[in-house]
Amino acid sequence: MEDAETTVSPSLSFERRKKDHIDLALKQENEALGQSGFHSIHLLHEALPEIDFDDVSLGVLSFQRFPSPFFVSSMTAGHKGGVAINEVLAMACEKKGWLMGVGSQRKQLSVPEAAKEWKSLRKKSPHVSLMGNIGLSQLIQTSTKEIQRLVDSLEAVAMVVHTNPLQECLQPEGTPHFKGGLKAIESLCKELSVPVILKETGCGFSRKTLERLNGLGLYAVDVSGYGGTHWGRIEGQRAPLGSLKEQAALSFAQWGESTVQSLLEANSLTLDYAIWASGGIRTGVDGAKALALGAEMVGLAKPMLQAALEGPEALLKKMELLEYELKTALFCTGCESVQKLREKQPWVQKQKI
Ligand SMILES: Cc1cc2nc3c(=O)[nH]c(=O)nc-3n(C[C@H](O)[C@H](O)[C@H](O)COP(=O)(O)O)c2cc1C
Repeated sequence: MEDAETTVSPSLSFERRKKDHIDLALKQENEALGQSGFHSIHLLHEALPEIDFDDVSLGVLSFQRFPSPFFVSSMTAGHKGGVAINEVLAMACEKKGWLMGVGSQRKQLSVPEAAKEWKSLRKKSPHVSLMGNIGLSQLIQTSTKEIQRLVDSLEAVAMVVHTNPLQECLQPEGTPHFKGGLKAIESLCKELSVPVILKETGCGFSRKTLERLNGLGLYAVDVSGYGGTHWGRIEGQRAPLGSLKEQAALSFAQWGESTVQSLLEANSLTLDYAIWASGGIRTGVDGAKALALGAEMVGLAKPMLQAALEGPEALLKKMELLEYELKTALFCTGCESVQKLREKQPWVQKQKI
């Protein structure tokens, strides 16, 4: 996510902010652990699955076919510290066929040379399916032609727009300007050459907001709910000690619609776009629950960052674990495919979130 350039050296402050974001996102206290709502969802065990484990397929049909519903959620772009991380993520995603989001491309709008990052990444991972990324508060001020340039430079298969009102408010350099957001999304969906996905960044979507997004031409909404990485907490830690923003951030540490609540709302509505899930997805069982609640794709950010920083092997191991857990959950609910799980919906809510 992005913010206004300030202080003496904008590029230095940009690099520092991005480093802060990565360092602070890795701290456990900046994750709303146990709040995603997945604990309240129980998948119904099938003692007689009548299928063989080898018959279980994780393949999904989204705007294109993917061998797995998991994707790496948008994280980093446009800064030195992120290049190596994106390369590791892209190589692993190419190998596994996972979809991958890059972080906000805002820098590229004012510094076209920033697109070099994608040239070198594409050399190493020519076939990975990448999604571009831009903040809604930037989109409002940017023409579709310029967004199309971001898409083209990345050879992106989709464009993600992130909306992050809480973060923009609490961020010391934030740009809390969202007037005209719906209209900007609608124009983008009409004019861009690739599907558009709208996502939150860890605060989720309420029922009313999901309803307001019907009719805009979105391909999907990734609820990115409360229960994982929390940007109110992260920005609170970046704010100067004793400042208004630092103090206010404490009052917003539990702010947001949980991932499960957002999915439950979406599940009970008729929407003209697909629902994707992210925000606090930490295991393949969480992923299975999200899919059973109707999600088409399931994204993870922090766990993938953590594994990528350990290296390519650790990352691939993490991806394999997530897929094995999901496959086991499909098997043990008697579903040979992700589509079957989404249709059968073998879940009950054990308790209120
Ligand atoms: C280090 C880091 C940087 C992020 N930067 C972006 C970004 O640039 N654009 C965006 O849409 N989301 C961004 N996110 C949010 C994630 O895509 C995701 O919505 C959120 O972290 C919740 O997922 P998680 O609980 O699995 O981390 C970032 C997350 C992390 C951890």
